[in-house]
Amino acid sequence: MRLLAISDLHLANPTNREALAGLPARSDDWLILGGDIAERLDHVRDLFALASERFAKVFWVPGNHELWTVPEEEADGRRSPELRGLAKYEALVALARGFGVVTPEDPYPLWTGPGGPCVVAPLFLLYDYSFRPPEISREAVVPWAREQASVCADELLLSPEPYASREAWCWARCADAEARLSALEPDLPTVLVNHFPLRQELVRIPRVPRFSPWCGTTRTEDWHRRFNAKVVVYGHLHVRRTDWRDGTRFEEVSLGYPRQWDRSLGLLPYLREILPGPAGPRDPG
Ligand SMILES: [Fe+2]
Ligand SMILES: [Fe+2]
Repeated sequence: MRLLAISDLHLANPTNREALAGLPARSDDWLILGGDIAERLDHVRDLFALASERFAKVFWVPGNHELWTVPEEEADGRRSPELRGLAKYEALVALARGFGVVTPEDPYPLWTGPGGPCVVAPLFLLYDYSFRPPEISREAVVPWAREQASVCADELLLSPEPYASREAWCWARCADAEARLSALEPDLPTVLVNHFPLRQELVRIPRVPRFSPWCGTTRTEDWHRRFNAKVVVYGHLHVRRTDWRDGTRFEEVSLGYPRQWDRSLGLLPYLREILPGPAGPRDPG
């Protein structure tokens, strides 16, 4: 019995979609889907259907790509109305619940298997552009990123409606999650799951350094300590790695675009073991 995680499956890409057939069936295991499954609801639906059939419990948190406003097709080929902002998120939550997939809107399940007990908390926290150099103002972020062609497509495709801005949505999400996490039994360890990294120093993307403002919020810098996190699971960066901070394990679990993984291996090696997981830091240095 294991708790596994993968994110950034990006199923709009046919190569990634074909790989789904190789998703193993592990009826004792739980699976975390860490966001950026796809932009279209029908692709997300396909994964929810498959994963909920093959795993004992499935979790999902939204990535930025799920929240994009894109043309959606019904099964009969008709175009359905395009969903924006909160309406798209709510449609995704309803879709997940239809398959019994646990969302950030549901009670946090308790893992009692090996490595437990642990509360598994799926979070949707978004970003607020605070992961930027101190000398760059909020207003200057987009022009600064544009100088190196690093502006995130969310600027065009991720509507914050009905919130005034993506940062306003982020702050509302953080306040809500903070209240829920604060109400947990403080001695009980947690597994915090969020598409975006909780700490700015974990954003190491040398090929696109000016993408960092779209990667999280400084508000969550100490959440792994405040909320007794045994493991923090995230994606978004497409840079798979494991880091240890203050005794907490941080797992970046992206699959990514086809050039970022080896399709000859199938999906299995990309399912990261979250619990029980390794006993301590692999590399204390
Ligand atoms: Fe992604
Ligand atoms: Fe992402």
